[in-house]
Amino acid sequence: MAQITIDEKACVRCGKCVDVCAIAHVFELSNDSSVPVRPEACWNCGQCVAGCPTDAIDHETFPLEDCPIIEKAERPTQDALVAGFRMRRSQRVFQESPIDREVIRDLVSLGRWAPTASNSQSVDWLAFDDPSRIDELSQGTVDEMSRFVRLAHNPLIRFVMPLIIGRSGTRQLRHASGLIERLQSARNRGDDPIFYRAPVVLIGHCPTRNRFGRDDAVFAAYNMMLVAESFGLATCQIGFFQIVVEKSGRLLKRLGLPNGRSPQIALVVGHPRHTFRRGVPRRSPNLTWNNR
Ligand SMILES: Cc1cc2nc3c(=O)[nH]c(=O)nc-3n(C[C@H](O)[C@H](O)[C@H](O)COP(=O)(O)O)c2cc1C
Repeated sequence: MAQITIDEKACVRCGKCVDVCAIAHVFELSNDSSVPVRPEACWNCGQCVAGCPTDAIDHETFPLEDCPIIEKAERPTQDALVAGFRMRRSQRVFQESPIDREVIRDLVSLGRWAPTASNSQSVDWLAFDDPSRIDELSQGTVDEMSRFVRLAHNPLIRFVMPLIIGRSGTRQLRHASGLIERLQSARNRGDDPIFYRAPVVLIGHCPTRNRFGRDDAVFAAYNMMLVAESFGLATCQIGFFQIVVEKSGRLLKRLGLPNGRSPQIALVVGHPRHTFRRGVPRRSPNLTWNNR
């Protein structure tokens, strides 16, 4: 349980901590000050400390020296943010140059500012920069996809397949023979059609029991993808790997994740070989109000 105390002299009873703690309801206002009446419900989001105008809250997880004041001028402009969103593109062609491990450490570290369900902060990362390990995972992905397609066509197994991977998954697999051939022949040519010979592959993983592990990992990854651009790096999410590793115990084993952790997202990172001169238009999403 988090130790939370209030400096009654500093507290001005503004009620901000009560308001911002709108799910856990840790605080109530007494006549003298705010009081942490339910500290056991605190999920360590730190919004009480971040919001308190007089630094009256002493929260053991958030010592004030670790909580810098947000200067108004630090807020990124909309133009800068949108330019960053538009600049990020998926890159599939990389220079051969390696990436300094410290840079990857910084990138992963910056992913932590993304939201996580119940503030679980449980996304961790596996990083691969050994080309032989990356190649092994790439080959494993293609091999497992081929095996699944063969199984989907096997007369003895095809009837139970929908029970295992669902009807639409089975249908997709039966139609994937052409794709597998293309992937396999790319590998035979010495290309890597899964990770594109990127110098680094990152796998975001979460506790298997975390119902929102995928969401948490995707948010963290998107932060990292945006920041990577400012490092002169480029990224691409690799859904192919994710689809296969979720169905294949063999491929999962090759990742060597600790027990109780599941892969949630795969990214490649590298120095892009090409830059893009233009942004391109995107479909504007439909927006429906107060639908019934
Ligand atoms: C969930 C997801 C899975 C993806 N999987 C792959 C993949 O396996 N291989 C690949 O080359 N690109 C993959 N991508 C990248 C998309 O193709 C790309 O985001 C899309 O074409 C838009 O282009 P942009 O990212 O350059 O804006 C994936 C993207 C997402 C969001």
